[in-house]
Amino acid sequence: MANRFEARRAIVTGGSRGIGWAIAAGLVSEGAAVLIVGRTQASVADGVRRLEALGGQGRVFGEAAEIGADPAVHQALVEAAAARMGGLDYLVNAAGGARVTSALEAPWDVWQQEMNVKFWGYLGMIRAAVPLLKASSGPRAILNVLGITGKDPNPALPMAGAANAALRAVTKGIATELAPLGIRVVNINPGATETALLETMAKGYAERCQSSAEEMTAWLRQSPPLGRLPRPEEVAALALFLLSQAAAPITGTSIDIDGGSHRGLA
Ligand SMILES: NC(=O)c1ccc[n+]([C@@H]2O[C@H](COP(=O)([O-])OP(=O)(O)OC[C@H]3O[C@@H](n4cnc5c(N)ncnc54)[C@H](OP(=O)(O)O)[C@@H]3O)[C@@H](O)[C@H]2O)c1
Repeated sequence: MANRFEARRAIVTGGSRGIGWAIAAGLVSEGAAVLIVGRTQASVADGVRRLEALGGQGRVFGEAAEIGADPAVHQALVEAAAARMGGLDYLVNAAGGARVTSALEAPWDVWQQEMNVKFWGYLGMIRAAVPLLKASSGPRAILNVLGITGKDPNPALPMAGAANAALRAVTKGIATELAPLGIRVVNINPGATETALLETMAKGYAERCQSSAEEMTAWLRQSPPLGRLPRPEEVAALALFLLSQAAAPITGTSIDIDGGSHRGLA
């Protein structure tokens, strides 16, 4: 096992399960201290327990918080990370979901909730974390788990598409701003991935298509040209590569991990 993140310190939002947990697990397995964030105390405690089981005792911390548009929440989370880990070297933004709905029919408050977590939550965590990243030295990076909908707008996932596309745009500028300091900003664009969110999305599609969640799950699973969906640990392997020094010249860009679903050139 490589030890690419020995003695480094990371926050992983959405780290209680799914893609975020898999990234946290990779970081912990390779020597980092990690503070994970999820919505509920129970989910965070479970995530922490499973990370400790990987050998992370004394290096794994958890905070339950509803990440949205409130900068006080973002600030409190990075302060908790600094207090517990003595500073911060990496921010991983992975908290969120993908609501299956219609841009025209979704109630306004659903638009606001979804944009709050995925757009304002990601941007707010970046803004709060940057002063701590600047105060650190050595390798530092921000990794955002976006989604292929930011490149291939899906009419059934309007908020995910809007947030992911907007984050691709804004993080390009932030990457340019932070590059002279050696702080990198990278994004990954998963397509449908084998997490609990897949089941939630399948239920959403089933309601819209008068089908069953099982049929929709099967349809999602066979959709990519590679004939299967990425697993969270595969998404995490890409994320860890991008956070590592092997990716030191890479910043301001997004890498797709979608089984070949995206057909465009950009
Ligand atoms: N799975 C996919 O098909 C897919 C595809 C493309 C992009 N993505 C993106 O990848 C990211 C992770 O998705 P996933 O598949 O890992 O989802 P998941 O398995 O449902 O896990 C979601 C994680 O985010 C946390 N979370 C959700 N809303 C939050 C909020 N408002 N504040 C704090 N934490 C919150 C959850 O905490 P609790 O455990 O407390 O609920 C959980 O840790 C999301 O941004 C999603 O849009 C996923």
